[in-house]
Amino acid sequence: MAYTKLNQLYEGKAKKVFETCDEGLVIVSYKDDATAFNGEKKGTIAGKGVVNNVMSDILFQLLEKEGVPTHFVEQLSDTDTLVKKVTILPLEVIIRNISAGSFAKRYGVAEGIVFDEPTLEFSYKEDALGDPLINDDHAFALKLATREQIAQVKEYAHKVNDVLKAFFLEKDLKLVDFKIEFGLFNGKVILADEISPDTCRLWDVNTNEKMDKDRFRRDLGGVEETYQKVLGRVKS
Ligand code: TMP
Repeated sequence: MAYTKLNQLYEGKAKKVFETCDEGLVIVSYKDDATAFNGEKKGTIAGKGVVNNVMSDILFQLLEKEGVPTHFVEQLSDTDTLVKKVTILPLEVIIRNISAGSFAKRYGVAEGIVFDEPTLEFSYKEDALGDPLINDDHAFALKLATREQIAQVKEYAHKVNDVLKAFFLEKDLKLVDFKIEFGLFNGKVILADEISPDTCRLWDVNTNEKMDKDRFRRDLGGVEETYQKVLGRVKS
């Protein structure tokens, strides 16, 4: 069965989502557009749509095999993937293995401190508020998810970290931190959204060179080349 894009349901900062003839399935189409700091900084990263689509599909299939249910159905083209239509839980789930980014800034510590255990944090996914940090009780109080869903999300997020940390290490990349999102499909929590250099921090294992969107956020140069290099390693 050939699925084609029907009405556009949504356009976000980095992706568009289209209806298909099956009401349970949508097509995600990845764009080269890049934003940072809640949309304050805007740009284009040539080839990013392809990298993020192909890389997400590889990682989602790996995670599915390792027991984490995902929205992945079928890659349709370099930039487009057929996925299950979920109701996204408005929670950004962030796991950190090494200090960096907003953790280093918020707590006034250097980047690069290796934690004894991974940390998990939630942000309330609400652009108008700047995605504020929240805890489990806040998420429950705001009725963003049930206690059971929150517990399930945390269990899956740690599993994602275990699987991806080992996977990236084989590619000479340290998984510093990442953000994932979950959705509900037929009442069950499944992994949705994307896993890409936009949503992970990846440092070269030998040089600690930043190989992710921080090159764009911080104007470090070599953005396009870095995205291509990461995809090359992921595919190797
Ligand atoms: P942070 O250190 O800026 O909080 O970012 C933690 C991780 O989350 C990092 O891997 C980048 C990712 N991230 C997103 O995917 N989307 C976002 O909007 C932000 C702020 C971070």
